[in-house]
Amino acid sequence: MNPVVNLDDYIKALPKTELHVHIEGTLEPELIFELAQRNNVSLPYASVQALREAYAFTNLQSFLDLYYAGASVLITEQDFYDMTMAYLQRAHADGVCHAEIMFDPQTHTERGIAIETVFSGIARAVRDMQARTGLTSYLLMSFLRHLSEEAAFETLNAALPLREAYGDIWVGIGLDSSELGNPPEKFARVFERCRELGFRLVAHAGEEGPAHYVRDALDVLHAERIDHGVRSADDPALVQRLIEEQIPLTVCPLSNLKLCVVDDLAKHNLADFLRQGVLVTINADDPAYFGGYVADNYLAVAKALKLSRNELAQLADNSIIASFLPIGRKAALRARVRAIAQ
Ligand code: HPA
Ligand code: ZN
Repeated sequence: MNPVVNLDDYIKALPKTELHVHIEGTLEPELIFELAQRNNVSLPYASVQALREAYAFTNLQSFLDLYYAGASVLITEQDFYDMTMAYLQRAHADGVCHAEIMFDPQTHTERGIAIETVFSGIARAVRDMQARTGLTSYLLMSFLRHLSEEAAFETLNAALPLREAYGDIWVGIGLDSSELGNPPEKFARVFERCRELGFRLVAHAGEEGPAHYVRDALDVLHAERIDHGVRSADDPALVQRLIEEQIPLTVCPLSNLKLCVVDDLAKHNLADFLRQGVLVTINADDPAYFGGYVADNYLAVAKALKLSRNELAQLADNSIIASFLPIGRKAALRARVRAIAQ
């Protein structure tokens, strides 16, 4: 590619996957207001602007409180479709070829929404987008770790009858929500069951929680990929293991900044990890809340950490390697990265 092309265009041209995005975290304030009106839900904010202004977070929990409140406008299958389609269109514009999307059924079933409604709306958008553009997606059904393991089992059991209809895209299981005080061991049995059922496994660990939560996510839950994992840096032996075993970390730089996991992007450990050989990837997490989609995250760290274009291509390549795509598709996408990086 012509080296004079600007950095933003270069980033968007790189074929990428996005591996750490919560679909409920893509709900933009404008759509929250539109859905609230459509569904006669009253919101405690006078305007889109007032809602956006409330997005000043001090830690993970301060964000989660607003995130669950925002999701309360999602009622119908069409609502889940509209939210997912809006995300997929943004991702496509950013050069995302494949997304692995987390969703939290418990956020909705606890409000009386049927789990089928959640699956159906999200999956219909995924299929429409794939037919229209070739952008593929997999779904990672995630358990809320502030709730009990029993509740996670109930969710799994409620979802399993849907596997026949959605098993081609619902490939994995995740673990999210409040990390501190909710260690991986709490979900050991349900993750074991999911493993027996043949699901791919990921888990949030080492975002706010300590490095040993990352170890436990690997050893107790058998997570194949760690969401965030930035606090692994506190344990050099763990970092060595991540390098040796090429365990992917799905890092979300703007999320880390907004949730005060780092106080300055220039101090983010992503570049150190990358240069040491950790399989780090860049993702948006909850883009509607954290001020940017995946290309914005690449651009922000490219500037703050002075990443070279080759390093940006390496990050795109890592995102393909770390995905759950079949090897043939990975090879084709990686060849496209190489062609652009030259
Ligand atoms: N961490 C934990 N849970 C979440 C997040 C996150 O960054 N986003 C949505 N749920
Ligand atoms: Zn997350």
